[in-house]
Amino acid sequence: MQIFRIQGGSRLSGEVKIDSAKNSVLPILAACVMTEEPVTLLDVPNIEDVANMIEILRSIGADVVREKKAVTVRAKGSLTDELPERLEKTLRASVFLVGPMLARLRRVTFGYPGGCEIGLRPIDLHERGLRALGVVIDESSGRLRCDGGSMRGAEIHFDYPSVGATENIMMTAAMLPGKTIIHNAAREPEIVDLARFMNACGARVSGAGRQIVTIQGVKRMHGVTYKPIPDRIVAGTMLAAAAITGGDIYLTNAPASDMVAQIAKLRDMGCDVHDGQDTLRLRAPKRLRSFGKIQTQPHPGFPTDMQAPMFALATVADGSSVLMETVFESRFQHAHDLMNMGADITLGDRMAVVRGVQRLHGARVKAHDLRAGAAMTIAALAAEGTTEITQIGQIDRGYEALEASLRSLGARAIRTAE
Ligand code: UD1
Repeated sequence: MQIFRIQGGSRLSGEVKIDSAKNSVLPILAACVMTEEPVTLLDVPNIEDVANMIEILRSIGADVVREKKAVTVRAKGSLTDELPERLEKTLRASVFLVGPMLARLRRVTFGYPGGCEIGLRPIDLHERGLRALGVVIDESSGRLRCDGGSMRGAEIHFDYPSVGATENIMMTAAMLPGKTIIHNAAREPEIVDLARFMNACGARVSGAGRQIVTIQGVKRMHGVTYKPIPDRIVAGTMLAAAAITGGDIYLTNAPASDMVAQIAKLRDMGCDVHDGQDTLRLRAPKRLRSFGKIQTQPHPGFPTDMQAPMFALATVADGSSVLMETVFESRFQHAHDLMNMGADITLGDRMAVVRGVQRLHGARVKAHDLRAGAAMTIAALAAEGTTEITQIGQIDRGYEALEASLRSLGARAIRTAE
């Protein structure tokens, strides 16, 4: 088993280029099966979630070639209409294939998806949306058999602006007869990116990024070469890592305009953040101040994926901070490990109060999920002594060689076998 071993206390400084966003790349890779023509995506990070998605695409019959950071998908000829049980458990984003496969084959069978252990992650909104489009779903076998033989455009209202459900319905509706209107759609930048990609392939999606998204069905879609938006969560993680060490970091290909909520909090903490067109520079003070309160919300609110990394900063910031998690049920798993490192935390159901301490100390901790793993890594950078992080496969799901990126900035961080 591999672990990260991190010796805290080094100040980070230097430059990092940000790759395409995991949460854009995953649905866009799925969307590639809507055309038989080749699609090439650029700047694709070498992370586990992408590797799993590529394996799923191959298992249903698509040809996928990866050349450095470019991935080309060609879904020519016949595809199978069942998602592989073994793989869909490893990747919640496998659910994104439901829409494109229905669009292409008019039927698909899949199981309940896996992914992060951050509480109940139902797919009822996906199912309701599909049913509204005329999909008949049979769950009697324990898997979901979807028959889309009589699908047509429809009007859908989501009780909650789910990112995945909005994306899935956009893709399902892209090649249906008629018009589909999604009310209370999610407004994340990755939704806008998916729409831009689909339109580059010949789809007609409008309103993405707003609450009402309209999809006018087209007969066919075609291939394209496309560069997805940069990863705002990876960029935010690197800023947080620099901030906790009193560092100075410069990010290129950084989506500053998608990171307004986090940048505001970093400024509240005393960081000097300068945002250029697609660059970001952060200079941190010797000791961070508390950010006050963070409450996660759907975009443009504070992103839930940045909650854990900011939690790590709060543990050593001057003053008390409050974090409220409203998007996911149990997304405070990092709190207990941070306490093992000396953090002073009072934990409620979906709320945590953190009183900043002068210093954390090294410990053996676990990456419970992807972003909790990022939080532990950030905390380790500021801790006295050595921290060992186990279960780093979770971190590799969404960060390409995080320890190497940090090392290039001056951190003493290695990946090692136990
Ligand atoms: C996506 C992101 C994830 C991010 C999240 C919220 C990807 C691959 N993942 O996840 O990194 O943390 O958005 O910004 O893009 N829900 C239901 N029923 C459903 C669907 C969702 O109740 O059918 C609930 C979920 O349990 C959760 C909330 O809605 O509590 C938000 O989920 P959703 O927006 O769908 O997130 P994901 O698409 O899973």
